[in-house]
Amino acid sequence: MTISTRIPEVAVHESEKVLFNHVCATLSELDMEVVLNVPPGGNWMNLPDTTIAKSSRLTQIKNSGGRTTYYGRLNSEMPSYTVNTYFNRPGNGTFIHPTQNRLISMREAARLQSFPDHYRFRGSLSSMYKQIGNAVPPLLARAIGEKIPKGLCVDLFCGAGGLSEGLTQAGHKTILSSDSNQNMCETFQFNNPDTKVIQSDFNKQEEVDILLENIESELSGRTLQLLTGGPPCQGFSTAGKWNPNDVRNSLLFKTIELVNELEPEYILLENVPGIQSMKKGKLLDSFLLSLGAKGYTTQTYLLKAEQFGVPQRRRRVFIVANRNSTRIDDPEVRLAPIARGKTRYDAYIEGNGYPNPVTVSEAISDLPAISSGEGQDIDEYDTDWITSDYQRLMRGIIALNEFFLKRTEQG
Ligand SMILES: C[S@@+](CC[C@H](N)C(=O)[O-])C[C@H]1O[C@@H](n2cnc3c(N)ncnc32)[C@H](O)[C@@H]1O
Repeated sequence: MTISTRIPEVAVHESEKVLFNHVCATLSELDMEVVLNVPPGGNWMNLPDTTIAKSSRLTQIKNSGGRTTYYGRLNSEMPSYTVNTYFNRPGNGTFIHPTQNRLISMREAARLQSFPDHYRFRGSLSSMYKQIGNAVPPLLARAIGEKIPKGLCVDLFCGAGGLSEGLTQAGHKTILSSDSNQNMCETFQFNNPDTKVIQSDFNKQEEVDILLENIESELSGRTLQLLTGGPPCQGFSTAGKWNPNDVRNSLLFKTIELVNELEPEYILLENVPGIQSMKKGKLLDSFLLSLGAKGYTTQTYLLKAEQFGVPQRRRRVFIVANRNSTRIDDPEVRLAPIARGKTRYDAYIEGNGYPNPVTVSEAISDLPAISSGEGQDIDEYDTDWITSDYQRLMRGIIALNEFFLKRTEQG
C-alpha cells in the first residue's frame, strides 16, 4: 500500500478542514472472504465451514472454541472492544469496520482511543499500530489527571503520548518525556513541540543517567509535581504471551530509581489489569510496599474507559502515589459501564442511572468511506459530515464539560 499526501503540508494549519491518518490495512483474499461473511457484531462463528476450512488458524479456533472477539466486526450501537496493536488483521480482535468491508483505519482507531483529531501519528504503518494500540486513552488519563494537583510533569515510556495528552487536557505541563523507540519519540515531539523529548533505553544505565541529567536541567530547581508513565506491559498483558520472567517487567521497578533521585510529589503509573494477578498479586504488593518505604501513600484504581467518554471497553490499572499522605478523590465516572454477560458475546450496558457510553457509530460515522488498503495520510474534512457530539468533541468544536452536560440532559 502507498500513502499519498494529497494536500500540501501548509494546509495542515487549517485543521478544521483536515483529516489525518485515515488509512487502513490491506486484506488478503481470504481475510476479505471472512469480512464479507461477518455481520455487524458478529465474529468467526458466523463463517461458513467452507471458509473456515481454508485457514489452519480458523480451523484451530473453531475446534478449540476460540474467543468470540476474533474475526469480529464492530457493532455500531455499542462501544468497541479493546483496541490493541494488531488492528491490521481481522483475526486479532474485533477490528472490521461496522458497515464497510475493510478494517478500521488509523484515525478510526485513534477516535476509539479518544485522541483528538489534531493529534497526528508519524512513522511507518507498523509503528502507528503500536503507537495507537499501546496508548492510554487521553480521556481516561484526563479523568484521573483532573484529581491530581497540577504542576510540572515528566512522562516515562511516553509512547505516542496518550497519557500526556490527557494530563495536558487536565492542566498538567509535561516538560520532558522519554521512550526507547524513535518513532514514538517523533510522534510525541510532533504533537508536543514545547516538551523536551529524550530517546533513551531504561535497560541501559548510562542512558538512564543522561535522562536524569536532562530532567534535572529542565526542572532547574523547580519541584517535580508528577512523575508518570506506562511501563511496557507485555509480561502482564492477557493479550500477549504470559511470561513472568520477561525482563521488561522489571522496568516497573526501575521507575523507583527515578523516584529516589527526583522525589516527585505525585506518581501516576498505568498498566494492564493483569498486573494485579501477576505472581498471585505479590508483584503489585511488593511494588506498592517499595513506594511505601520511600514515604509514599498509594492508591490503586481499576478503571473502565467507557465510563469516562472513551468509545471502547478497555480496563486499565492506575497506581497513584503521593508524598504528603494526601489521598486523591476518585476519578469522576460520567457514563454507564459495559457489563459482561455469560460470554463476551452477551455484553450489555449496565444502566445504573448514568447516560449510555459512546458508541462506535457516534465515534466514527462521519469519516469518509474508503476501500480496503486505501485512504490518505492527510485528507480533506468537512464539518457538515458531523453527526454526533463526540465527533464535535474530537474536532475541538465543543469542550468536554459541554459534551458530558449535553449527554446527561439527553439521558
Ligand atoms: C504501553 S506503551 C506506553 C504508552 C504511553 N503511555 C501512551 O499513553 O501513549 C510502553 C512504551 O514503553 C516503551 N519501551 C519499551 N521498552 C523500553 C525501554 N527499555 N526503555 C524505554 N522505553 C521502553 C515502548 O517503546 C512503548 O512506547
